[in-house]
Amino acid sequence: MSTEHLLSPLPLGPLALPNRVVMAPLARQRSQQPGNVPYALNATYYAQRASAGLLISEASQVCPEGQGYAWTPGIHSDAQVAGWTQVTEAVHAAGGRIYLQLWHVGRISHPLLQPDGADPVAPSAIQANAECYVQEADGSHHKAPTALPRALELKELPGVVAAYADGTANALRAGFDGVEVHAANGYLLDQFLCSNSNQRTDAYGGSVENRARLVLEVVDAVVARTGDSQRVGIRISPMGTFGDVHDANPLETFSYLVEQLSTRNLAYLHVNRPDWLGGSFEGFDELLRSLRTLYSGTLILAGGQTAASGEQAIADGLADLVAYGRPYIANADLVERFAQNAALNEPNAATFYGGGAEGYTDYPTLG
Ligand SMILES: Cc1cc2nc3c(=O)[nH]c(=O)nc-3n(C[C@H](O)[C@H](O)[C@H](O)COP(=O)(O)O)c2cc1C
Repeated sequence: MSTEHLLSPLPLGPLALPNRVVMAPLARQRSQQPGNVPYALNATYYAQRASAGLLISEASQVCPEGQGYAWTPGIHSDAQVAGWTQVTEAVHAAGGRIYLQLWHVGRISHPLLQPDGADPVAPSAIQANAECYVQEADGSHHKAPTALPRALELKELPGVVAAYADGTANALRAGFDGVEVHAANGYLLDQFLCSNSNQRTDAYGGSVENRARLVLEVVDAVVARTGDSQRVGIRISPMGTFGDVHDANPLETFSYLVEQLSTRNLAYLHVNRPDWLGGSFEGFDELLRSLRTLYSGTLILAGGQTAASGEQAIADGLADLVAYGRPYIANADLVERFAQNAALNEPNAATFYGGGAEGYTDYPTLG
């Protein structure tokens, strides 16, 4: 009989995970202003969830240009490092383990979120049919269509790679156990990967090798700065369309990327299912099985998972770890609830983004 179960332990690089339940990265737009700085309330929220095998932080911009929604935390200033240190200390004191997700939104942004009101940057000057979230000078805030971005110049790309490396150094300084490169969900690295958002004619566009170049350079720079590839994970969303990305040949693109990643001995590959917001994506399960065979390391599966489906994915050998997003918003004690087969609280979408403790740290736990 298999000993691999959702609630059985798993080593992850230098970490000993007590279970296979991962808290997926969840943007909650609750950092302190000015400066997008994590604070005590965020520390409480993450520490409440410390029984997860692994926590992955909300996406955190690696540079001011990497921001696409008001009040998301950054990992580029000393104040942010100090704020995140409160978070990692609280999580570790509660017995948990936490990675930081490194983020650059690329074109999913707006001049109101950019330094000096500049246009956001992207692989190509192609506007996404998508929304971001802005705060006006008078303090009012609202959704806004993403702006027309400007194409990054070739000579700017080393600076983008360096921002991820610096974000990594800052995350380690803040006490994180590792970092996850966010290459999913239509943000900058996914914009480079996908054919509809990348129409460059230089070494970073066109062929799959070229479209994957920036992601792999970022991974290599992050690993170099970490000094231990087993403290670096990466998140991808093959076939995903969130953020208005679309790749003409996801099997080819993501097979190449995953083969390349497989040689890098990373802590994990994290795959977000494209159907997490509904819709049907024919061929995704086949693609996932194929990526699984191409990748030799630990795989995290996310998107619409239940205890039963997560257990099944592990039993089928499709995943080693299972990440839960919305269930973790509403159930800090998700591991205990799974262990006891207890009912789950339903998350309230009205309090997902922004605000304070309500809908954040006040969901009831068992007992
Ligand atoms: C409120 C909210 C915020 C999210 N923020 C992030 C994020 O910061 N980074 C990321 O990679 N995915 C993000 N996602 C996607 C989740 O990590 C997850 O993949 C998705 O919710 C599907 O999993 P679920 O069905 O268990 O919720 C977010 C999802 C939600 C609902």
